[in-house]
Amino acid sequence: MKRILVTGGAGFIGSNFVHYALAETDAHITVIDKLTYAGNLDSLAGLPSDRFEFVHGDITDEPLVEKLTEASDAVVHYAAESHNDNSLHDPRPFLDTNIIGTYTLIQAARKFNKRFHHISTDEVYGDLAIDDPARFTENTPYNPSSPYSSTKAGSDLLVRAWVRSFGLQATISNCSNNYGPYQHVEKFIPRQITNVIDGVRPKLYGAGENVRDWIHADDHSSAVLTILEHGRIGETYLIGADGEKTNKEVVELILERMGRDRDDFEHVTDRPGHDLRYAIDSTKLRTELGWKPRFSSFETGLDNTIKWYMDNESWWRPRKAETESRYLEQGQ
Ligand code: NAD
Ligand code: DAU
Repeated sequence: MKRILVTGGAGFIGSNFVHYALAETDAHITVIDKLTYAGNLDSLAGLPSDRFEFVHGDITDEPLVEKLTEASDAVVHYAAESHNDNSLHDPRPFLDTNIIGTYTLIQAARKFNKRFHHISTDEVYGDLAIDDPARFTENTPYNPSSPYSSTKAGSDLLVRAWVRSFGLQATISNCSNNYGPYQHVEKFIPRQITNVIDGVRPKLYGAGENVRDWIHADDHSSAVLTILEHGRIGETYLIGADGEKTNKEVVELILERMGRDRDDFEHVTDRPGHDLRYAIDSTKLRTELGWKPRFSSFETGLDNTIKWYMDNESWWRPRKAETESRYLEQGQ
């Protein structure tokens, strides 16, 4: 694939993918991004101008999406409203971007017969009980809990329908919780790292017993590239790195690695409808396409991430105060 259109490439995972794909392939990448509060052009600074172009735009803008899709060989669709807490307070942008935006893109990919890869989340499957040994597979029934995850589930179903009804050349991946550089400070791990840098105690929703299955953003990128190049059209692949941890374990680890007492955190108001546990079985991706994660140790990946936030305060500082005042209003 010579020309890849990446939607949401100024966000956390999209920008990591752009850096990764420019290093690992000789493709030209065009990013379309609306630069919402979650987009940051600094995440794409210094990329080679002969292989990278940035277009400021909205994925619901049909003429723009058609123009950019026609000029590309493949579309990798990351753009979304991505934060569960925001979706509980103002769901509308989630419907506009996650549903109508995806619809606009798959219509264009269909019109110009382009390869399409849809990025999605394990949250479409709902949650598992803490003590249930089961993990999500590609056959787990959809059962989303929040406005965010229900709009992602809706977008997945649109892509599946366009494959079956219109022959769209699409694949879908559903990944677990990502961590790494360029993640907005509203999200769990960067919020706590930057709190510790500021001398503020990390905040755990409820008892902190909820489990998330962590994967480094670079490993998500390598999986997406593998699926884009070798995945079977119409298939869904689950992406995960066997990284299950309770939120309390993650906070304790952050405190320990940053030289503070492991119990120097506080409990705050829980998230309404808070999913208990996510866990991914990525056997299909590993056996069928031969993918495996590079970051086998969460501790190593976390150390790199802590160092990145310590070294790149100018990247996150402008967003910290506003994010914390939003959380304060919600008692979180
Ligand atoms: P993010 O919020 O960091 O970035 C989203 C990007 O999309 C931002 O740059 C934003 O400006 C852009 N955007 C939003 N609305 C747009 C619109 N209408 N038009 C164009 N651009 C728009 O999100 P993220 O955490 O990087 O997530 C990226 C994708 O990966 C999402 O589809 C999300 O559902 C999925 N995902 C995320 C995780 C995770 O742990 N963060 C895990 C699995 C899947
Ligand atoms: O599973 C994939 C999903 O992971 C993605 O689809 C979403 O886009 C992404 O935001 C993430 O969703 P979560 O809701 O799991 O991530 P978040 O970082 O918001 O929270 C992770 C866990 O930490 C969750 O159980 C809530 C908890 N939490 C979060 C914050 C911000 C806290 O305990 N304290 C906090 O301050």
